[in-house]
Amino acid sequence: MGDLALPHILPRVRDARREARKYANFLLALRARRAGAARVAHHPFDLTVDCATQCQLHCPYCAVGNGTIRRKPSLMDAALHERLAADVAPDLFLAWYFSAGEPLLHPRLHEHLARTAGEEAFTVVSTNLSVPLSPARQEALLRSGLGMLSASVDGASAATYAQYRRGGDFALVMDNLAGLARRKREMGLQFPLLEWRFLLFAHNQHEVDAARALATDMGLDLLEFFPGYALPPGDPGEQGVHPMTIPMPRRPVSGPAYEAGLARRETLVQRLTAGQAAPTPSPANGPGDPRRCDWLYHSGMIYPDGAFGPCCVATDADDDFTRLDAHPDFGAAWNAPAFLRSRAAFAAGDDGNGKKRDGGCAPASDVSGTGGAAGTVCDRCPLPVAQELQFVQKVRAILRNTPDWAVRILAAAPEEFFLPADQRRLPVELGALRRPEALALPPCPDALTRLRALAATHPDPALARCADLLERGHA
Ligand SMILES: C[S@@+](CC[C@H](N)C(=O)[O-])C[C@H]1O[C@@H](n2cnc3c(N)ncnc32)[C@H](O)[C@@H]1O
Ligand code: SF4
Repeated sequence: MGDLALPHILPRVRDARREARKYANFLLALRARRAGAARVAHHPFDLTVDCATQCQLHCPYCAVGNGTIRRKPSLMDAALHERLAADVAPDLFLAWYFSAGEPLLHPRLHEHLARTAGEEAFTVVSTNLSVPLSPARQEALLRSGLGMLSASVDGASAATYAQYRRGGDFALVMDNLAGLARRKREMGLQFPLLEWRFLLFAHNQHEVDAARALATDMGLDLLEFFPGYALPPGDPGEQGVHPMTIPMPRRPVSGPAYEAGLARRETLVQRLTAGQAAPTPSPANGPGDPRRCDWLYHSGMIYPDGAFGPCCVATDADDDFTRLDAHPDFGAAWNAPAFLRSRAAFAAGDDGNGKKRDGGCAPASDVSGTGGAAGTVCDRCPLPVAQELQFVQKVRAILRNTPDWAVRILAAAPEEFFLPADQRRLPVELGALRRPEALALPPCPDALTRLRALAATHPDPALARCADLLERGHA
């Protein structure tokens, strides 16, 4: 869903007032994560708003598609969406409008996207696109302010496609994709970026080149190949679709939007990191990494009925942490007892530097989740490795767009915002913060005024500390 391209394609926040609010919230999020705080005063800077928990397809390893998900199918109503958007969208850099189902099955999706995009949150929809789309609906989606539409198409021919996307109509999908690309060109729009996302399995790995040719013919902005999760032949749980057997294609992400993204030099961090390749996010934590879950500080999952879950790997309703309507506002919901217990359990097992509080030093990959007694799904995290790619790519994207005033704050005291392990996870962008050009950035009086004004009414005193760092700079 654009994860690989994200650090280069996320646009900057244009409005200075919105930029100040979003980066103030981002700085507080980093500090709370660094400190291992249980109660937090910031909002997520990234959120999944799942408007439709139902699907018309039967993809074999998808819990919705194979019917194993424990969550009722439903659609989000406008009132809930408005309450959510008003409260939290101004703080978001990213909003993912899909998770446990097919978002295009929501008839008013374009209205919800427009509301959130109006707050300059970059919205992303991942869709099977196997839905009849009238020209009017295509136009409404294209005009909604949507940032990226990622089409899940795991094959370049009808026969190959149908093996994973069971019940999908390849001809309809390709027709929709080509139609969206043509209309977008006619409308002269830069966004939404149109991405073809191709999950690689053993049965479709021979169609990489054919997909590249089709994506170019259609004039798509991005093409991403990603290894599809599947079980090997002979495994008791296998579903007739098996893992890819070839190495990953040399260019897993390509397309004109990606090329243009690599060439961006709009910010100091983009200029200082030009041409430097970031390491592929590691699938496993390294020795010395803290056992802290980044999701609990940067994101969350909102379902159509107002249920609030911690992350995208815990999708069953019995793993939800709370409901939005049980709290006066979003911040209170994000500090519901289950969130506090999970954050505290992670922090208790680690001193923030990878050392266990009992004196030992165990690699985080030795345990799944807190390994403790939060009494939540985090005790037995279903997929601890999933957070690495998600968190790293999002933070890289936001750091690369960071305005000079916020670079000055981060460069003045990086140890207040980042964990030691982040140096390994984000070496390119954090390396830029240590460069003389970043350390010598001048103060920005307008930004300081905005930050002081935000700090005056914000419950977290750490925002005043950020303003002090902006005023003083690198000592
Ligand atoms: C559950 S789907 C929901 C959105 C939409 N229905 C779709 O398929 O794009 C969310 C993401 O999971 C991906 N997905 C489905 N099966 C997968 C698998 N076996 N391995 C990795 N990702 C998978 C989809 O391609 C999509 O990007
Ligand atoms: S199209 Fe998406 S939600 Fe539907 S079954 Fe496939 S992966 Fe799951």
